Amino acid sequence: MGPAEVPDEFVTPAVAGLTPYEPGKPVEEVQRELGLERVVKLASNEGPFPPFPAALAAIERATHELNRYPDGGAYRLRAALAERFDVAFEEVAVGAGADGIVDGVSQAFLDAGDEIVCGWPSFPSYVIDAAKLGATAVRVPLTDGRYDLDAILGAVTPRTKVVYVCNPNNPTGTMNTRAELDAYFERVPEHVLTVLDQAYFEYVDDADYPDGIEEYHRRGHRVLVVRTFSKIYGLAGLRVGWGVGSPGVVTAIGKVRRAFDLNAAAQAAAVASLDDRDEVARRARVNAEQRGRVVEILERHGLACVGPAVANFVYAESGDDDARPLFEALLREGVIVRPLAGFGAPGAIRVTVGSPEDNAFLDEALGRVRAAARG
Ligand SMILES: Cc1ncc(COP(=O)(O)O)c(C=O)c1O
Repeated sequence: MGPAEVPDEFVTPAVAGLTPYEPGKPVEEVQRELGLERVVKLASNEGPFPPFPAALAAIERATHELNRYPDGGAYRLRAALAERFDVAFEEVAVGAGADGIVDGVSQAFLDAGDEIVCGWPSFPSYVIDAAKLGATAVRVPLTDGRYDLDAILGAVTPRTKVVYVCNPNNPTGTMNTRAELDAYFERVPEHVLTVLDQAYFEYVDDADYPDGIEEYHRRGHRVLVVRTFSKIYGLAGLRVGWGVGSPGVVTAIGKVRRAFDLNAAAQAAAVASLDDRDEVARRARVNAEQRGRVVEILERHGLACVGPAVANFVYAESGDDDARPLFEALLREGVIVRPLAGFGAPGAIRVTVGSPEDNAFLDEALGRVRAAARG
């Protein structure tokens, strides 16, 4: 006898309509399945850098007290972030990754029939989390691979509650400038909360790139600025994200967050990571250098990169309508990249900037794949 299955209509219509997230295969699994000696993962925009030494020490200390529940209010982490970024404690939201913040925004502010607006292709959680609640995601095509903020404003209706601005945008890696965002904030209607997703903030070294906390939150705009410890801080596996916004927005997100979803090791590691600004700067420099190299490699092998890329990944058109064969050929060579059908770009791949060794491996693998394709 099988399990007592529920009828299809038992699942809410909003959930029934979702496509499950397709996770990449773990490196070990790819290695075993394909009999490969070396596999390099350039698929998830993680840094090639490990957690900071102080974070590793904090994690080790936290393991001795894992019989205890974590601090449900994440008090020390919120206090440390408030101090470091010179905002009030009540203006700091935390979540299980920046993804947890997007989930919190959706749950706290969206009802069935409400609308969100975002660019597309962009970070899929904006759309998926809205759809889970029966809200409508209005997706505005990018212009030349960048968020088109005029078109985004044109898509705002009286039903729009949230506008997401992904800057730099995942998957294209491009940014909007201060002048563009200034003009956007001048014009965005008051009934809208803008979520400015700066998950890759620390990587960007461009004088025209604005700091959302300083330039929009502090100047009184209705904005939630989102950041994460997953990228440059090397803590993707622990899941810590945060946001800065008005106390009302932060309180509402706190109400829908599951009390213990920021585990004790994650909180301790995040606090310990905040002091090492030199290492953040060093990582950003290494990344910028290697990003240039990845662009050069991809273009030399005939892919067309969208740019300028300012984060730790590069978006490239494969030249075919379907990039999946290229993705699979690279996989057989031991390089995992991200095919972008789920982001609405079936002909493109996204390649995370790896270590110098990872990127050299990509170069060789792509060379073999392209040679084989030429016959
Ligand atoms: C633009 C953007 N926002 C948010 C996230 C979520 O990051 P995390 O949940 O790991 O903090 C990502 C992850 O890749 C992203 O690219």
